[in-house]
Amino acid sequence: MKITVAGTGYVGLITGVGLASQGHDVTCVDIIKEKVDKINSGITPIHEKDLPELLKKVLERGNFRATLNLKSAVKDSDITFICVGTPSREDGSINLQYVEDVSKGIGEAIKENGKYHIVVVKSTVIPGTTESVVTPILEKYSGKRAGVDFGIAMSPEFLREGKALEDFMHPDRVVIGTSDQKTFETLKDVLAFEQTHVIKTSLKSAEMIKYASNAFLATKISFINEIGNICKKLGIDSYEVAKAVGMDHRISPHFLRSGLGFGGSCLPKDVKALREKAKSIGYEPKLLDSVLEVNQFQREQMVKIAEEKLSNLNGKKIAVLGVAFKAYTDDIREAPAIDIIKMLLEKGANVFAYDSEALENARKIFGDKINYADSPGEALESADICLIVTEWPEFKNLDFSKMKNKIVIDGRNILENRNGIDYVGLCW
Ligand code: UGA
Repeated sequence: MKITVAGTGYVGLITGVGLASQGHDVTCVDIIKEKVDKINSGITPIHEKDLPELLKKVLERGNFRATLNLKSAVKDSDITFICVGTPSREDGSINLQYVEDVSKGIGEAIKENGKYHIVVVKSTVIPGTTESVVTPILEKYSGKRAGVDFGIAMSPEFLREGKALEDFMHPDRVVIGTSDQKTFETLKDVLAFEQTHVIKTSLKSAEMIKYASNAFLATKISFINEIGNICKKLGIDSYEVAKAVGMDHRISPHFLRSGLGFGGSCLPKDVKALREKAKSIGYEPKLLDSVLEVNQFQREQMVKIAEEKLSNLNGKKIAVLGVAFKAYTDDIREAPAIDIIKMLLEKGANVFAYDSEALENARKIFGDKINYADSPGEALESADICLIVTEWPEFKNLDFSKMKNKIVIDGRNILENRNGIDYVGLCW
């Protein structure tokens, strides 16, 4: 199949390279020239395991390339995936500007495409968007009718950063929202590479499945954080509790790690967008509100414990270990570390941050307001307190001997040797 992928963020680039590795002829499109050039020269703009090797392979094979020219790519292909970003507005609601812009361009191109072209929305969009925003734009600019002259579908992506290719290649399920059987059959062949559950739904259900999945994962984390906070007050080890609770197959052991909660480009944004959509249609989403509240509380709690330990943070040297929102990524979007560092700075602390991958991104936000250490040891030297914020394996065993006060607040329950220090767990 000849495939166009619009947008080269996480979902777009993984989809493009992943489909090319399956033998399809793929053209990825972006509006940023620097990104397109990088991709064409084999450099991945995102940090993802195994992606550089696979990108090089498909570039060499000649069935993958990136371009700025959406129109020529779509005109010449069978399927176009919309994988552009859907950022949050100030109030948390979804901003569809990129989806609208790209839909217009695709519409103009399929006007000149003689084949039955299929457009698939992969971007995370609020239920109703494919039907009431994307389809009308495509129809307007192509002069063609959806389901008659071209196919339309919504197929959400469930990949995790750090394990993106693995998740793309071996999905738990493939959801294809469409009312058009021809489109469904084609996409089933393209997206389900191996034996997996393939679910055909309406466009709206496919969109909602994505939000419900992420909202549930976020809820699970806030739930275990709330249990963890109660456990801590009762002197109970919340990890012991979570282990046994997770053995119930109805619950599962995943997403039961209590601590600093969720960050990243998806969980916080999607829960907020769903909450705002619910409010806009007259439903008060009490649970979603609480999920976000508990998540914020965890971040504040870490700073509160630090303040209680040192009585005053003004002028104190604080080692912040980990800035990325989780291990194995350089992504700091909505990372707990950002809020924590901001709170520490407000209290006059002298922050020394260390992260093996994410400091460059941290510098874009904090500039010279904080110090950037080259190693955990440099951050810890003469520090008054150490905050472990990201679960990087290198933080499992640290040398705290050069700290001024050997106080360590572990936000991820990762530290293995807790002897000889004043160890404080967040919810344990
Ligand atoms: C998440 C979902 O897991 C993916 O299925 C989804 O496709 C993706 O969002 C998306 O919508 O694109 P991701 O943002 O990569 O993936 O991150 P997760 O691995 O889900 O972790 C999210 C956050 O939750 C991290 O900050 C992590 O530290 C935290 N977390 C996770 C916990 O605090 N406790 C846990 O038990 C698990």
